[in-house]
Amino acid sequence: MPAQANTTPRGRQFFNNPGPTNIPDRVLRAMDRPVMDFLAPEFLEIHRACYAGIKRVFKTDQEIFFHASTGHGAWEAAVANLFSPGELVLVIETGYFSMGFKELAETLGLRVEVVQADWRTGVDIAKVAERLAADKGHEIKAVLAVHNETATGMVLPLAEVRRALDQAKHPALLLSDTISSLGSMEYKMDAWGIDVTIAGSQKGLMLPTGMAITGVSSKALEASRKAKLPKYYFNWELMAQRKPQRFIGTVPVHFFFGLQESIKMLEEETLEGVFARHARLSNSVTTVMMPEGHTSDAMRKIALERFNLSLGGGLGPLMGKVFRIGHLGDLNEPMLLGCLATTELAMKTAGVPFAAGGVDAAIQSLAA
Ligand SMILES: Cc1ncc(COP(=O)(O)O)c(C=O)c1O
Repeated sequence: MPAQANTTPRGRQFFNNPGPTNIPDRVLRAMDRPVMDFLAPEFLEIHRACYAGIKRVFKTDQEIFFHASTGHGAWEAAVANLFSPGELVLVIETGYFSMGFKELAETLGLRVEVVQADWRTGVDIAKVAERLAADKGHEIKAVLAVHNETATGMVLPLAEVRRALDQAKHPALLLSDTISSLGSMEYKMDAWGIDVTIAGSQKGLMLPTGMAITGVSSKALEASRKAKLPKYYFNWELMAQRKPQRFIGTVPVHFFFGLQESIKMLEEETLEGVFARHARLSNSVTTVMMPEGHTSDAMRKIALERFNLSLGGGLGPLMGKVFRIGHLGDLNEPMLLGCLATTELAMKTAGVPFAAGGVDAAIQSLAA
């Protein structure tokens, strides 16, 4: 019998976008409570616990700021707080998101130079080191890096970028976007000498979209005191002065209810356990190229509409040419195998040629 269209989807949707990711029921339940005055002692205790907890997740003892925004807001906050018009920053190309960070910095008035790289093979760190060593006058004020490039699934070795800065004795700040790595792969803000860590709520932290979190080193705070780009809502100094809430405007208390629970979940599993689980399930995004003559969007539409599986699409120049499987956050083996089997089913239904045996290979790997 031919497969019937799934016109009335039953069961849970298999959600394998690389962000937002699945929100665990525990986090949903923690957020399902009445609102609270953000200056009430009960809330301030939750707020305090979230600050302390997120420092453990970032592995930092330095400053933390929460923004009611998506990751783009935290990018904008970092640029506006750290730089003055016309200053030069170095962007390491990894893919679509590194180019977005570049565009934002240029739009806010910075000069941007890019260390170019192929999106499939990644950057040669020696090229970063070379550029830094050549900058004898220390014109470059910062290196902007994306830890896990969500468009391609490529991971940038941040510790090597730090080493390149140290070897060149270059004082530039190191900014890292951990939007799709935090809470899914190892990250050590202080040990790796990161000056600004940018994170979002909707991936490894397993929360709804809409809160961004920034870790700021004392060196970056020092730089922010001299920076002349205009800012108000994102002004870190102003935020720090708003005591005790450290927030400009109304604090989104429900995010903190959720974050307290998500930190609890990460720590129950232990961060090392979380990273090991992600490594076992494959860290944390896979970008799959379509064969010539087939668009990923047609296959993704079948996956969603007939089989209730949500996959990520290609971004920027990769639109239609690739699809992305997100396997990060609240995920286990059956969820992953269900996604892989249904991806094969959708490809078969769409007439996309592929080599059989992918799901079997995944079982072999997971059983090992
Ligand atoms: C690596 C990376 N940087 C930045 C962003 C932008 O974050 P947001 O969509 O939360 O604004 C994303 C979003 O997916 C991302 O994956």
